[in-house]
Amino acid sequence: MPEKEGRLVTEMIHTSGLVKRFGNVEALRGLDLDVPQGTVLGLLGPNGAGKTTAVRILTTLLEPDGGMATVAGIDVVAQPDKVRERIGLSGQNAAVDEYLTGYENLEMVGRLYHLGARRSRARARELLERFELDDAGDRPAKTYSGGMRRRLDLAAALVAEPEVLFLDEPTTGLDPRSRTQMWDTIRELVRGGSTALLTTQYMDEADRLADDIVVIDRGQMIAHGHPDELKARIGGERVEVVLADSAQIPATKVVLAELSVGEIRVEEETCTVTAAVTRGVDILREVLEALKDRAIAVDDVGLRRPTLDDVFLSLTGHAAEEATSQSDGRRAGRDEAKEKEVVR
Ligand SMILES: Nc1ncnc2c1ncn2[C@@H]1O[C@H](COP(=O)(O)OP(=O)(O)OP(=O)(O)O)[C@@H](O)[C@H]1O
Ligand SMILES: [Mg+2]
Repeated sequence: MPEKEGRLVTEMIHTSGLVKRFGNVEALRGLDLDVPQGTVLGLLGPNGAGKTTAVRILTTLLEPDGGMATVAGIDVVAQPDKVRERIGLSGQNAAVDEYLTGYENLEMVGRLYHLGARRSRARARELLERFELDDAGDRPAKTYSGGMRRRLDLAAALVAEPEVLFLDEPTTGLDPRSRTQMWDTIRELVRGGSTALLTTQYMDEADRLADDIVVIDRGQMIAHGHPDELKARIGGERVEVVLADSAQIPATKVVLAELSVGEIRVEEETCTVTAAVTRGVDILREVLEALKDRAIAVDDVGLRRPTLDDVFLSLTGHAAEEATSQSDGRRAGRDEAKEKEVVR
């Protein structure tokens, strides 16, 4: 990341041994995080993993039962007011006042942050425009759609141009276009020197935005690294062949055995055979020729690189979007909904 080279790297978010209990539920069991200035940390984990709890502690809404946390070098328990001056939060429990208009919501936040009347008004207008809410700016927020509320909530988090941003599932419920806009906004903020902690259920979002990823499950870190490192850890690329007729699975296995480097997997229901390979596109051509020589009819063939979805699945035992909300952390263990990304 060249734009980050040469910049003084300071930890803008730091936690060590963070513990939080709710009755007999241990929501956080000794969480350690470090987020350097000007980077985005993607905090991933199945439902109930403890992501929102971590965000709430870091944004001073909740006190930890153990361990410590600092934001911009300030202890969140000792000096919560000071921390609040430096942060913006766009949360799962949006802090939008339903009865105020979009404009009034933003202006009020500006006043709360002591921006002064003129600056608050200007900032409100600027942000309404940026999030394409200017037409709806004079309507009460209760008339907004879910996506508009999300955008207003993020706009509110940005009013005071905070150094550290906490974004708890910022794009859940947004349409693809709004998601892309949100990503652009977050990228722009980080390029400008802001630091962000982002939780998300969308692996592509983490892949695009995060410099570093921490996967947590049941309140503990289970993996940490750059998205590419995590993908590399679970294995390389695979050739995936979707057959027209399941009777040809055995013959396909024979063909792939000659060309692949590892275990061959068969998914009967979808007539899919996959095999680990090393030579990328070249091997695709060879596979196609070999199948044609043996008159094996193919519906689809592709090269599949591991995605963050695969990483998530392999680490937690279930896909992000089908994670259970059970607080005891029992696993869903279903894998039929595995997401496929076939390069055609
Ligand atoms: N106020 C609370 N009272 C009791 N239990 C709570 C409370 N807040 C969180 N928990 C429990 O703590 C655990 C972690 O919850 P948390 O909301 O941090 O998970 P999450 O990773 O944000 O999940 P999701 O992906 O569903 O948003 C869960 O078991 C949850 O039920
Ligand atoms: Mg949450």
